[in-house]
Amino acid sequence: MTAVEHLRDARVLRVTFENGAQADYPFLWLRDNCPSGFHPQTQERMQDLLALPAGIGVDSAAIEDGALAVAWEASVHRSRFPLDWLARHRPGTPLDDPADIAPRLWRAKTGLAGMPRGDAAALLADDVALSHWMRETRAHGLALVEGLPADQKAGMKVARRISFLRETNFGTVFEVKSKPNPNNLAYTAVALPLHTDLPNQELPPGYQFLHCLANEALGGGSVFADGFAIADSLRAQEPALFDLLSTRSIPFRFHDGEYDIRRRQKVITLDEAGAVTEICWNAHLAETFDMPAGEMAAYYEAYRAFMATLRHPKWAVEFALKPGQMVVFDNRRVLHGRAAFNPTTGRRHLRGFYVDRGEFDSRLRVLARPPGA
Ligand code: OGA
Ligand code: ZN
Repeated sequence: MTAVEHLRDARVLRVTFENGAQADYPFLWLRDNCPSGFHPQTQERMQDLLALPAGIGVDSAAIEDGALAVAWEASVHRSRFPLDWLARHRPGTPLDDPADIAPRLWRAKTGLAGMPRGDAAALLADDVALSHWMRETRAHGLALVEGLPADQKAGMKVARRISFLRETNFGTVFEVKSKPNPNNLAYTAVALPLHTDLPNQELPPGYQFLHCLANEALGGGSVFADGFAIADSLRAQEPALFDLLSTRSIPFRFHDGEYDIRRRQKVITLDEAGAVTEICWNAHLAETFDMPAGEMAAYYEAYRAFMATLRHPKWAVEFALKPGQMVVFDNRRVLHGRAAFNPTTGRRHLRGFYVDRGEFDSRLRVLARPPGA
């Protein structure tokens, strides 16, 4: 049986659930989350926190009909908290998140073998197939879609099954082919060393899609490497250099006739627990380093160490994209590149677009809802 204790001194209600789990709910937290304070349709909080006394007290508390019933001191207000809601929102435990899928780190061998492959028709028609492929893509950070029909928009249709596309200064869709007057090295035939796209943006794009329409030119093979695995390896080998890359930011910049887009980023971003959450690596868009002269040598040592680590062949997965295939990767984790190609030997044309991480994760959560929820 579920029981509640009123701990006046600690200013919490201690609930012991049927399964023995116990949690402490602070008075003010409970009152702030009273279901009556939320809009019944939008589910957004309407209760004004400052209208509640900071030192709010509880008159009485009891477990009644699957809910915790609370009468508040010096108020006629009564609250009812469903026990399943309280169990999901135990202070100190983050809300269960179906999109919180741990990254599965890889290197050259495991990268290709573990790469999820989805069939375009199945991803378009079947939510279960889409959910499975998206969960795998979230874990691996790199995936393939195969069987796309010979329709220029086929790749975009799959991306739009996930969510809306992220627009940038290169458009909603960018055509990766050798062009006259290029404003980006991707639009030439030169090799692109491993990089992440657009670290010069306030929020670098999340998932990147490269839909292959033609790949007949000599050269032009694709290369990918897991930036999280590379960063963790550097942390183990050279902790002081890792520390510099994860605490000091450097300037990134793209500029052409129309735009001048700048942002400082750290090469390695960590979460509060110290886990790597983002890599920004793009030697083409790195602006002139601007730290004090006395700090240059140390930063260069760290920056070169990351560069040298990622060049080691143990990380890179290489394959040639074929028409009808689309590669999908987390641009804030997985670095990508390509070999040079000879545009006089045949056509090479990829169509690129992005879906940000937030939209990708939202779709994962919605797909994980039980039917009818
Ligand atoms: C890009 C890019 C890779 C390729 O467009 O950002 O890196 O294979 N392209 O052309
Ligand atoms: Zn790129």
